[in-house]
Amino acid sequence: MKLLPSFYQVGGPALTHPNDATAFLLPVGEKLALIDCCTPEGYDALLQNIRALGFDPADVLEIYATHGHYDHIGAAALFERDFGTTLHLHGEDRAAVDACDPIMTTARLLYGQDFPPVRNILPLTDGERMETDAGVLEVIHTPGHTPGSCCFALEHVCGIRVLIAGDTLHGGFSHKIGSDEARWRESLDRLCSLDFDCYVMGHCNPILFCDANRRIDSLRRSFANYYTPWFKTFYESYPY
Ligand SMILES: [Fe+2]
Repeated sequence: MKLLPSFYQVGGPALTHPNDATAFLLPVGEKLALIDCCTPEGYDALLQNIRALGFDPADVLEIYATHGHYDHIGAAALFERDFGTTLHLHGEDRAAVDACDPIMTTARLLYGQDFPPVRNILPLTDGERMETDAGVLEVIHTPGHTPGSCCFALEHVCGIRVLIAGDTLHGGFSHKIGSDEARWRESLDRLCSLDFDCYVMGHCNPILFCDANRRIDSLRRSFANYYTPWFKTFYESYPY
């Protein structure tokens, strides 16, 4: 699904597997980059979606992770195995992914799965900039949902500033996954100090949310008002 020129959503609950977070494809010359890459359960559909856009999944050179959760990067090991793709992940989520931590990666905590190990991981750092055909992508370290959560600012070539928010907007909060209310609040303050025209986030069907600055500020003001401890896992059914 094309969101903007050279900026595609190729993964998400309606596109690949119900448990999948969003995944975005950006051509980089003859090669391809992904922001997040869904679960192993969504892998085949993700490859199919890349092919349906006229691209070859074998050209996916890099995966930039919004954070180290199973629904976002569980398929990174499959990309590495099949295409030699390199995962880039912020250092503060690295230990959980290296250890395939069943709770911190949410793999077993929420999905009843094992986290597939990734051999080679490169660090993502705040302020790092990557050239893509869609425009320059800049990493914004936004700890809170997890310690290593990152957003990406895309300065699109058509002049639109897009925030790729991962789970920093609308993500779940739990001490089990290292969530930190104070750090998350600082991250939201930082996002509000920047300027975006629209945003995408970690759990939605293909859509660009417009009026971004006002919406993000609204989310910042409503953040952490209330938590529910009754969250249902995704791999069990509940009769009531
Ligand atoms: Fe997450």
